[in-house]
Amino acid sequence: MKPVKIGLLGLGTVGGGTVNVLQRNSEEIARRAGRPIEVVHAAVRSLGRERICDTQGILLTEDPFEVVRNPELDLVVELIGGCGLAKELVLEAISLGKHVVTANKALIAECGNEIFAAAEKKGVSIFYEAGVAGGIPIIKALREGLSANRIEWLAGIINGTGNFILSEMRDKGREFSDVLKEAQELGYAEADPTFDVEGIDAAHKLTILASIAYGIPLKFDKVYTEGISKITPQDVIYAGELGYVIKHLGIARRSQAGIEMRVHPTLVPASNMLGKVDGVMNAVMVNGDAVGNTFYYGPGAGAEPTASAVLADVIDLVRSLEGLAAHRVAHTGFAADQLGEDNLLSIDQISSAYYLRIEVLDRAGVMASVASILGELDISIEAIIQKEPREGETRIPLILLTHVVEEQRLNQAIERIEALKPVSGSVVRIRMDHLD
Ligand code: NDP
Ligand code: HSE
Repeated sequence: MKPVKIGLLGLGTVGGGTVNVLQRNSEEIARRAGRPIEVVHAAVRSLGRERICDTQGILLTEDPFEVVRNPELDLVVELIGGCGLAKELVLEAISLGKHVVTANKALIAECGNEIFAAAEKKGVSIFYEAGVAGGIPIIKALREGLSANRIEWLAGIINGTGNFILSEMRDKGREFSDVLKEAQELGYAEADPTFDVEGIDAAHKLTILASIAYGIPLKFDKVYTEGISKITPQDVIYAGELGYVIKHLGIARRSQAGIEMRVHPTLVPASNMLGKVDGVMNAVMVNGDAVGNTFYYGPGAGAEPTASAVLADVIDLVRSLEGLAAHRVAHTGFAADQLGEDNLLSIDQISSAYYLRIEVLDRAGVMASVASILGELDISIEAIIQKEPREGETRIPLILLTHVVEEQRLNQAIERIEALKPVSGSVVRIRMDHLD
């Protein structure tokens, strides 16, 4: 049978992994897709660079538009990243009637509404499974496998680099910068690693998940985003003493008030499955009204795990090239005229339980003053620990866990606590979620 010819834009970590997996599993993939699939054309920034894959038989170019405009290609795979050149290339491919597979979550989260509209107009598809949680087929699970459910909430560890850093710091006491460097060498990190560390990458992914879960347009700018760079080893230890671990979670939740989308460090019970997800592994827990809790786990980054998702999309597209286009699932699982009105909540409007660390003078009555502020604002306390003063210090950390309260009310309490004379510095606040 005539092979399907595809072009790759980018031959770095993910592009190289894609070529390797396709070459290694070519027979199995051809049996599944119904036709052999061949990479015949690929664009790179620098032809002289060493590659992780064998490029024999692939025409290489430094002009990515050459690939997009190659009339022999049935589809192109965008693996360059970012929203500049990648967007131009994808829109050009669409205008030429080509289907596109991409691993670029920034592109989908920030420009997806425009790209999907252009693709729908032209009758082509944009597949982006690799954009969220690396090798875990979470897009397919949420968009198709759970399509009978009303999705109540989802919570996930959706950045491999960040989870790798947190795990290595906690388990091996390694320095933040040292672990980040290793994540970059392993090909996990984004071109700009602040995207990983400050939660921007996770916010891109959460935007996509929320759009599929709730049938709303992609609204990246509405995601509340907080990174992991301010987490101290101290908080990791205290959380552990209380039976929690700190994870960087993306959370989308539907309540009567509206839809929450937030990315921030979160205390989760150490016994919860999400609390046990370490290293570069990712996991997403999805709660649907019919199915209850479901859990998806796997590698969140890296060459071949990501290639697994890229190629699954390519195979899906190849299967539908022969006249099945009309049955293809809409880009977010909801046709454009079915997208709902969204009522996206700001972080002040959410409710959560909280971990608070307050540095106070070690003297009588301080704990009572803090407790009375919380009591006056009707914020109930789940647990308190007061640590011994460190040698030579007169201040002690007071650790408090609260029950669920509106963030707005907690902000008032924090403001009043910080104004107390015996309290120094800012109160450290980390949201908690029991994931129930
Ligand atoms: P890399 O930096 O490893 O690869 C990028 C590729 O794009 C390189 O081959 C580079 O060429 C090429 N490129 C860059 N600029 C140009 C240009 N102007 N013209 C032609 N080619 C160009 O990135 P990754 O493979 O890690 O990531 C690719 C995409 O996949 C990103 O969107 C990323 O967010 C996403 N992703 C990455 C994952 C991972 O684990 N790494 C996991 C999931 C998604 P050259 O090699 O010559 O420099
Ligand atoms: N930089 C991303 C991560 C790649 O570490 O999760 C996978 O999307």
